[in-house]
Amino acid sequence: MKLNEEVREFWEQGPCGSGDIIVGELKPLSREWFEQIEEHRYRVEPFIHSIAQFPRHHGKKLLEVGVGAGTDHLQWARAGAHCFGVDLTSAAIETTKARFSLYGFESELQRLDAEVLPFEDESFDVVYSWGVIHHSEKPERIIEEIRRVLKPGGQFIGMLYGRRSPLVFKFWVKHALLKGRPWLSFSDVVWDKVESVGTKAYTEGELRSLFEKFGSTETIPLITTYDTDHWPHWISKFFPDSWGWFIGIRATK
Ligand SMILES: C[S@@+](CC[C@H](N)C(=O)[O-])C[C@H]1O[C@@H](n2cnc3c(N)ncnc32)[C@H](O)[C@@H]1O
Repeated sequence: MKLNEEVREFWEQGPCGSGDIIVGELKPLSREWFEQIEEHRYRVEPFIHSIAQFPRHHGKKLLEVGVGAGTDHLQWARAGAHCFGVDLTSAAIETTKARFSLYGFESELQRLDAEVLPFEDESFDVVYSWGVIHHSEKPERIIEEIRRVLKPGGQFIGMLYGRRSPLVFKFWVKHALLKGRPWLSFSDVVWDKVESVGTKAYTEGELRSLFEKFGSTETIPLITTYDTDHWPHWISKFFPDSWGWFIGIRATK
């Protein structure tokens, strides 16, 4: 089976952020269900607002790659962007369609693998992708497609996983060191143990290389609750501030 088919199989089980631990017994696709997902998302990842800056993009033509449950996609619509969204799974596309219909917004949503985007060159002002590109077999293809569909001066805004992070270190202790396999690298552990198989995580320098064809790229390391949870606070002092599981990116074409 090709890697992206396995990735799809994993995410078809339910869009990211809609697990029982978050939504409990709420009726799937009900307003309460969506609002619980939204409340949880921005409580746990409040920095999304400062990275995305939704209201600044009013009136712009926006493509989101990997809409998941559609929580950020809804913020783009609320901010007045002209929305297009894609995802590898029917689960994500159907959930986002249901959400947009419930809240009275419109977006052109398609299920597809973003390694090939069915859009004209230079057709979007903004492309947004939060926590998606690192799941794909060939992230560099998605990044090249994003650059192709952006207008000159257009902006990519997103987040990819950071390898130098307390979260990855915790996974390495659990799945490599304590399993008697200390030779496994951080990358090996992320590939096998974080979400769908084949997940990748980067350093800031590696991300800047991946986006090198853009005119300018800014990387912003973000320490998340996934880094600090289940961990005595004093241990965090041993990790530099530049270590974090999320790396926000803004890259201008
Ligand atoms: C961790 S979830 C993130 C979803 C959403 N952006 C969020 O932050 O909640 C990863 C999503 O990426 C999608 N995905 C993975 N590989 C993809 C690809 N090659 N093309 C399009 N979507 C992809 C998955 O289907 C899944 O919905």
